[in-house]
Amino acid sequence: MAQALIEPERLKLLDALADGGWHSGEALAEAHGITRAALAKRMDRLRDWGLEIEARQGLGYRLSRPLERLNAAALEAAMLTPLRVTVLAETDSTNTQLLDADSARDPQALLAEYQTAGRGRRGRAWRSPFGANLYLSLAWSFPAWPPALTTLPLVVGVICAEALAQTGVEGLGLKWPNDLLLEGRKLGGILIEHRGEAGGPCRVVIGVGINVAMSDEQASPIDQPWIALNAALSRQGRAAASRNALAADLLNRLAIALRQFEASGFAPFVPRWNAQDLTRDRKVRILLGNGEVDGIARGVAPDGALQVETAQGLTAYHSGEVSLRLS
Ligand code: BTN
Repeated sequence: MAQALIEPERLKLLDALADGGWHSGEALAEAHGITRAALAKRMDRLRDWGLEIEARQGLGYRLSRPLERLNAAALEAAMLTPLRVTVLAETDSTNTQLLDADSARDPQALLAEYQTAGRGRRGRAWRSPFGANLYLSLAWSFPAWPPALTTLPLVVGVICAEALAQTGVEGLGLKWPNDLLLEGRKLGGILIEHRGEAGGPCRVVIGVGINVAMSDEQASPIDQPWIALNAALSRQGRAAASRNALAADLLNRLAIALRQFEASGFAPFVPRWNAQDLTRDRKVRILLGNGEVDGIARGVAPDGALQVETAQGLTAYHSGEVSLRLS
């Protein structure tokens, strides 16, 4: 798998700072066999990854918060069914890499600490500072085209919400079709891309980005309300989530769900989606290409459509046609 050329020295220095404590410049320079000036430059290279490193006279350097690096071997060992797991320090986009990867190696997961060109839906960029969040993709090959493929984004939304709920965080749920919200703000996003011809085999790459510990500064280019999991957990008096534990749980749940989806389609997921629905029985506004409709959301239908009680009666809206707002 293509990996950007990363000098191992940069990661070695990062590991020395990972505990979040102060480290004297003198000791760091000596331990890495470089001058203080070269050390300062190397710190700047780490800042290029979006890492927040403080420097203070008399104290030295420290990361703004401790860093738990992703561990591919531990993740792969935690898989309940065989699944290849690769972790890259830096890549353009984990989805792009897996779309180009050899499908004979599926199922395979790729995680990155930093994405230079993370992609969101509708051609938007996905902010990906180093080690702050989860950037994870899973490539999965279905031998036959799943008839309910259009509902896969909803299935993945359910699985993400259920995995995140295990952290104990409160105020989490889904906004149709699969927006992961916490306290009304965006906690994560899902980008599913597929290859193949209807009727034949089908390969999907499921990309999930979850904001775990991103700071306001790191998120400054984001132009919509967002939230990070660990900030919410801390406000709620709960322990911070481990990115490795969350990634392992998410991958295991996805693998189980994809097999169930292949066998039974969306049906088993309808009640699970509805249990995570943040809009149920609430006033919503449906934004259509040619206007808008107000109504009361009534949950998801077996084909994945959003059911809304409008002046015209119960109406089903399908993905791709509409956008939903709480009104
Ligand atoms: C969205 O716009 O809500 C979807 C965001 C998906 C982001 C994830 S991060 C891992 C994977 N790689 C990417 O380039 N995008 C997805």
